[in-house]
Amino acid sequence: MHLQDEAATERAGRLLAPGITPGMRVYLSGELGSGKTTLVRALLRALGVRERVKSPSYALVELYVVSSLHLYHFDFSRFEDPLEWADAGFDEYFDGSGVCLVEWPERAAGRLPQPDLEILLSLAGTGRDAQFTAHSEAGARCLKSVSVLNSQEGSS
Ligand SMILES: Nc1ncnc2c1ncn2[C@@H]1O[C@H](COP(=O)(O)OP(=O)(O)OP(=O)(O)O)[C@@H](O)[C@H]1O
Ligand SMILES: [Mg+2]
Repeated sequence: MHLQDEAATERAGRLLAPGITPGMRVYLSGELGSGKTTLVRALLRALGVRERVKSPSYALVELYVVSSLHLYHFDFSRFEDPLEWADAGFDEYFDGSGVCLVEWPERAAGRLPQPDLEILLSLAGTGRDAQFTAHSEAGARCLKSVSVLNSQEGSS
């Protein structure tokens, strides 16, 4: 999918929302400034998050709760110490019924389980390109709904 401007990245985040189910893991890769946080922020908003979505920093993770759904937004760009992983109890986040949205998953490689959905963002002219890959049934269903919504919006 080509994302010609910031609004297009936000739209992609919105289109993902209806396909997100409890326990899903979505990993976002791509160079600095490729739009990972922009997409996650739009996705969280579409899922009903009302408070300000800030980039996870020192704590590496921000938690949002919508009804009974726990939404974890990780950014592992500053992840260095393997002990941090155990101390923070991250394994539990990834095993439970919460939704994990992860920027810079490669920085925690070897610790993270396989994602349901992988999103690869890259710079393309003044815009961005996004590539979506499903790694599970849940991920495939989510992508299916994105493509249905995308064509519906596109034709209306
Ligand atoms: N499709 C797009 N076209 C042009 N600019 C975009 C697009 N999507 C997002 N941007 C802009 O790119 C900038 C960086 O976005 P963002 O912070 O989401 O990137 P990131 O991948 O999270 O970066 P980091 O690796 O530092 O976490 C923002 O100013 C955002 O508005
Ligand atoms: Mg970011």
